[in-house]
Amino acid sequence: MKILVTGGLGFIGSHTVVELVNAGYDPVIIDDLSNSNIKILDQLAKIIGYKPDFYQIDLCNEKAVKDFAAKETDIAGIIHFAASKAVGESVKQPLKYYRNNFYSLINILGAYNGKALNFVFSSSCTVYGQPDILPVTEDAPVKPAESPYGNTKQIAEEILKDVVAAGTKYKVIALRYFNPVGAHDSALIGELPNGVPQNLVPFITQTAIGKREKITVFGDTYNTPDGSCIRDYIHVVDLAKAHVAAIKLMERESFNGYDVFNIGTGTGSSVLEVIKAFEKVTGVTLNYEIGPARDGDVEQVWGDVTKSTKKLNWKADLDINTMMASAWEWEKYIAQNPL
Ligand code: WQD
Repeated sequence: MKILVTGGLGFIGSHTVVELVNAGYDPVIIDDLSNSNIKILDQLAKIIGYKPDFYQIDLCNEKAVKDFAAKETDIAGIIHFAASKAVGESVKQPLKYYRNNFYSLINILGAYNGKALNFVFSSSCTVYGQPDILPVTEDAPVKPAESPYGNTKQIAEEILKDVVAAGTKYKVIALRYFNPVGAHDSALIGELPNGVPQNLVPFITQTAIGKREKITVFGDTYNTPDGSCIRDYIHVVDLAKAHVAAIKLMERESFNGYDVFNIGTGTGSSVLEVIKAFEKVTGVTLNYEIGPARDGDVEQVWGDVTKSTKKLNWKADLDINTMMASAWEWEKYIAQNPL
């Protein structure tokens, strides 16, 4: 059964391609290569044993998307990752984010409109802002977005609900990711940040390997046990498996319409705890300093995953130590084998 994976050469997309194949699906990848590397296709072939069908398409090009849909007619499901996703960049370039993230979503939905399709949307815990109650559940209020990136995720969820309510034949599941980290245990795929990493874990591994001189902890005077921010870090392989679970749930007659699930571990870890876990697992001492808080950071957020466990029939298995170990193995791999 063919599943279209947009953004399929990206960090989460590539790991999801592997899990789709493991589950017996036939992934078809679209990627515009604006924030990914074509060599990931060869890396995927080393893991799954063949090169999946790949199309380099800018999903903002409506004609190109329609031509693709006219050719690839037996797509049973779509997992839509393709989007710009850097919070800081979105503040500086809002129009790039609104254009790319909305045009791509609208074009792919329009191209397959009217077909009975299972659609998984890559959303984010960013929609919650700083929750009033922790752990945060799916029915917590969506707060005013802290960035254009977060706004595109909130509005995209509304677009999807409206599309379902309009009676199109789509079934839709939005997955609200917490913080994806780590890498496949083959160390052949992982996170490939463009330039200076914005996120914590790639900055940690690049500091550990010597690409960065030190890492700055953005604030240690928050109202948390050790003063640093808390997040729900989830292994990217667990996250990838949640997408397969979402496709399987929508294949059941009993599922209809739209639903949303938190995809996290249900456990919070502070920045300093992540650093300590990395040092313990790898034996590498990290050069870090405490710096000022980063604008836009929420103090603490972690997910209530009860609904995902019960209804999505999915639960994260891998712990923070495995996340750190796999991220480090990947960093060492790309240091020896630049893509
Ligand atoms: C985590 C913590 C930082 C770097 C964002 C998006 C989210 C998702 C993941 C796309 C924070 C601290 C970081 C550093 C640090 N993106 N930190 N020093 O901001 O929680 O989430 O990325 O899907 O939607 O919002 O992730 O990894 O940037 O930060 O102290 O050099 O690490 O302050 O507390 P974030 P992050």
